[in-house]
Amino acid sequence: MDKENKNGECLSSCVTTRRQFLFMSGAATATVFLSGIPGFGAARVEAVVAKYPKQKIGKLSALKQDMPVTFAYPSKDIKNILVKLGVPAGGGIGSNKDVVAFNPVCTHMGGNLEKAYNAEHKILGQCPLHLSTFDLTRHGIIISGHATESLPQIELELEGDDIYATGVIGLVYGRNSNI
Ligand code: FES
Repeated sequence: MDKENKNGECLSSCVTTRRQFLFMSGAATATVFLSGIPGFGAARVEAVVAKYPKQKIGKLSALKQDMPVTFAYPSKDIKNILVKLGVPAGGGIGSNKDVVAFNPVCTHMGGNLEKAYNAEHKILGQCPLHLSTFDLTRHGIIISGHATESLPQIELELEGDDIYATGVIGLVYGRNSNI
């Protein structure tokens, strides 16, 4: 039987999933609360965000609604999209909480969603490989298709007009570390 301390942390023989192991490696982590997940109403859902060095990725005033721009974070070979949705979104920044960023590599088998933004529905998809779609207003949750995990969301901060990336919620597909 697994043993835990009073905080619920494993002391021995607890099984660590591959995802937990991979996600916990290579970065400091923090717990955040996600909102706006369908089916949870006003409840907040815990998630773990891997914290990386803060990096300026753009200016709020330069964003045009429904026109995604790309940026690299947390390493130079990880390309993400930053988009102003025009509607409030989980994890969104700005006065309307509508600016979000995601890694656009499908969590099913790595399909490229970089050009798959759908402005009408505020989703990424359909994935060109097996048709998965992800809701950008709700932390990149899967809404159809074969994927079982949300898209990695880039945690954002706003300082004046400057947008900074500060962490990643999730593990980029095909990698054992986000850095
Ligand atoms: S790789 Fe995207 S749905 Fe399979």
